[in-house]
Amino acid sequence: MKLKTVYVCSECGARFPKWMGKCTGCGAWNSLVEDVVAEPVKAASAAATVRHSMTARTGDNHATPYKELEMPSYIRTATGLSELDRVLGGGLVLGSVVLLSGEPGIGKSTLLMQISDILGAHRRVLYISGEESGGQLKLRAERLGVSGDNLSILTETNIGKILGEIDAVKPDVVIVDSIQTIYNENIASTAGAVTQVRETALAFINKAKTDNISVILVGHVNKEGTIAGPKILEHMVDAVLYFEGERQQTYRIIRAIKNRYGSTNEIGVFEMTDEGLAEVVNPSEMLLAGRPQNTSGNCAVCTMEGTRPLIAEIQALVSATAFPAPRRTSNGIDYNRLCLILAVLEKRLGMRLSANDVYINVIGGLRLDEPASDLAVAMALISSLADRAVPDDLIAIGELGLSGECRAVSGLEYRVKEAARLGFKWAVVPYRNLEKRQIKADIQLISIKSIFEILRLLSPQEKQTPQA
Ligand code: TYD
Ligand code: MG
Repeated sequence: MKLKTVYVCSECGARFPKWMGKCTGCGAWNSLVEDVVAEPVKAASAAATVRHSMTARTGDNHATPYKELEMPSYIRTATGLSELDRVLGGGLVLGSVVLLSGEPGIGKSTLLMQISDILGAHRRVLYISGEESGGQLKLRAERLGVSGDNLSILTETNIGKILGEIDAVKPDVVIVDSIQTIYNENIASTAGAVTQVRETALAFINKAKTDNISVILVGHVNKEGTIAGPKILEHMVDAVLYFEGERQQTYRIIRAIKNRYGSTNEIGVFEMTDEGLAEVVNPSEMLLAGRPQNTSGNCAVCTMEGTRPLIAEIQALVSATAFPAPRRTSNGIDYNRLCLILAVLEKRLGMRLSANDVYINVIGGLRLDEPASDLAVAMALISSLADRAVPDDLIAIGELGLSGECRAVSGLEYRVKEAARLGFKWAVVPYRNLEKRQIKADIQLISIKSIFEILRLLSPQEKQTPQA
C-alpha cells in the first residue's frame, strides 16, 4: 500500500491526480477536494477485468423477461410521527437507506431520538452516535421523555466495529448520527472526506440490503446547502430528506428530495418545543398567526404541497433604489420567477420597477416552487409600490403568463376550500379554471383573465371590500 494525494469531485466522485477548476467527468465547477488514498502497489488491470466480464456469462444474474417480473411488496414501519411518515410515503421501508440532512442545530438528532422511542415499541433500534457521548444522549432523551425500550446506543465511529455491533445487536432500524463522523481505518483520509463518506455509506447500504435493516443516515449540510462531502451520497441512498427551517424560529419542515418508495411532493411540518418536535397538523394556521393587518405589500396565497393545501403569506417591499443597478432579493420564491413577474408588471402595467429595489419574502421560511403563487407575488409587489393594502381577507391564486394573462392552476377546489376554512372571504382565481367547472366553496370567487384586472382589488386609502 502506498499513500497518495488525489483530488476527488464531490459531485460525481471522479478522481484526478491534480487540482482543476472544472471536473472533466461531470462538468461541475470548483467541486474537486483533496483526499488521501492508499493505492495497491500493483493494481490489477481494470481493463482486463472488464473485458472478461463482458465476454463471460458468469454467476446466475441473467436477464429476466419483463412479464416474469413481480411487483415489489415493501414492508413499511410507521415511525409514529405522521408528518414524517407522510414524507417517507407511509413509513420506513425494510432494507432501505434514508439520508436525513440539514444544518447543524436544526433538530435532526432530536427527531431521530423521538422516533427511536416510538419505533422501539415493536422494533429493535440501534442508535449510533459519533458526535455525542452516551451521557449527552441520555440528557436529551430524558428531556424528550424517551422510555428507551428496545433502544441500544452505540458511541463509535469505526465502521468495522459498528458492523460487528450490528451483527451482535441484530437491530431492525439503525440510525447513524452522522455519516461524516464514521471512518474506515483502511482508508487514509480523515473522517468526513469524500472517500470516507462514500465508502462508509456504501458499507451501511450493503448492510441494509443484506440484513434487511432500515438505515437512517444523518448528513450535515454545509453553507452552500449541499451535503458536505460528496453529493454522490444522494445518488446512493433510497430516499433523501431535507430538514429545513430558521433556527431562530420554531417551525421545521421536512421535505423529500428523492424517494424511491413514495412521492417527493409531500412535506411534513413540525414545531420545536421544550419537549422536542411536535407535529403541526394544520400548518396554515401556524403560518398565518400574527399576520400584519391592513398593511401594504402583503398577499396570501394557497400552495399545494403534495396532497395538502397550505396557506402562505408573501411579503414584498418595493423602495426607491440608491444603486445604479437596483437590488432584487428573494426568499422563498425562485429568483428567476421573480424577475419574470417584475418584467411582466413593468411591460404590461407600465410600472417603474427598474428604479426600485425589490425584496420578496415568504413568511415561515416556506419555499414556493409553484407558478400558482405568481399572482400573489404580483399583488404584493403592486400593493407595496402603490402603498395600498390588499384586503386581509383576500387570497390570490393563479399563474401569470408573459402577456400578463392569468393561467389556470391545478387543484383550485382544494385551495379555495382551505382558504375558506381559515376565514378568507375573497379568492382571486383564474377565469380559465371556472370556465370548465364551477367550484363550490364558502368563499366569494373573483375570477380574472389578466393582471390588468387586479389593480381595482387593492384598497384605496380607506380599507374597503372588493367588488366581485
Ligand atoms: P439537535 O437535535 O441537536 O440538532 P441537530 O442534530 O440537527 O444538530 O437540536 C437542535 C436544537 O434544538 C438545540 O439547539 C436545542 C433545541 N431543542 C429544543 O428546543 N427542544 C428540545 O426538546 C430539544 C431536545 C432540543
Ligand atoms: Mg445532532
